[in-house]
Amino acid sequence: MILENKLGITNAVELARAEEKISKTKALQLFTSGFLENLNAGTFHSLSEIHRYLFEDIYEFAGKLRTVNIAKGNFRFVPLMYLEAALKNIEAMPQSNFDEIIEKYVEMNIAHPFREGNGRSTRIWLDLILKKELNLVVDWSCIDKENYLLAMERSPVKDVEIKVLLKQGLTDKVNDQSVYIKGIDASYHYEGYTIYKTENLGDDQL
Ligand SMILES: Nc1ncnc2c1ncn2[C@@H]1O[C@H](COP(=O)(O)OP(=O)(O)OP(=O)(O)O)[C@@H](O)[C@H]1O
Ligand SMILES: [Mg+2]
Repeated sequence: MILENKLGITNAVELARAEEKISKTKALQLFTSGFLENLNAGTFHSLSEIHRYLFEDIYEFAGKLRTVNIAKGNFRFVPLMYLEAALKNIEAMPQSNFDEIIEKYVEMNIAHPFREGNGRSTRIWLDLILKKELNLVVDWSCIDKENYLLAMERSPVKDVEIKVLLKQGLTDKVNDQSVYIKGIDASYHYEGYTIYKTENLGDDQL
């Protein structure tokens, strides 16, 4: 299965390659243009603006909520019918210290608001909060991708591992482009989503 895209690409590998290249270029523009500075860190709106900016040339759904239920591995992200309420609650979560910020990040990952590109956009969103509240960011070049993914998979149950991992990666080089861009690197993994059904939703809504 391949996602419908604005590039007219029908081959999954080709799409992954194009998507990575374009979103990376857009991420650099996002960083250098000052666009991020106008966003209100920690809001859902700021995340959807980041997502839209990164993916608007590739997907029609850039910046828009997904319209299907999605799962990765054994984990089901927030069901569609609870998604908007969840986003409101997450937005209201405090973000005044490191632990609170990571707890908010973990919840936003559980929401997984978009059809694709949640990882990249949410890592930028996280950096925006860390920068505003603590004047720190994550140096993604120091974060082992395998360990990050294992910690993220574990995070809905227990968030201590992702907290330890990201804390080790904190830096005060908040304006360093190379520190920031590593978070947008090639998909941390290429596993796609499974679409699941819930009893309460008819097939036509999925
Ligand atoms: N089993 C899982 N349970 C919880 N979270 C997961 C799981 N697998 C992946 N994740 C999170 O979802 C992100 C991937 O989401 P998605 O594929 O939408 O984003 P992406 O930007 O395309 O990819 P990537 O983060 O790999 O660059 C991962 O970075 C990780 O944070
Ligand atoms: Mg992906």
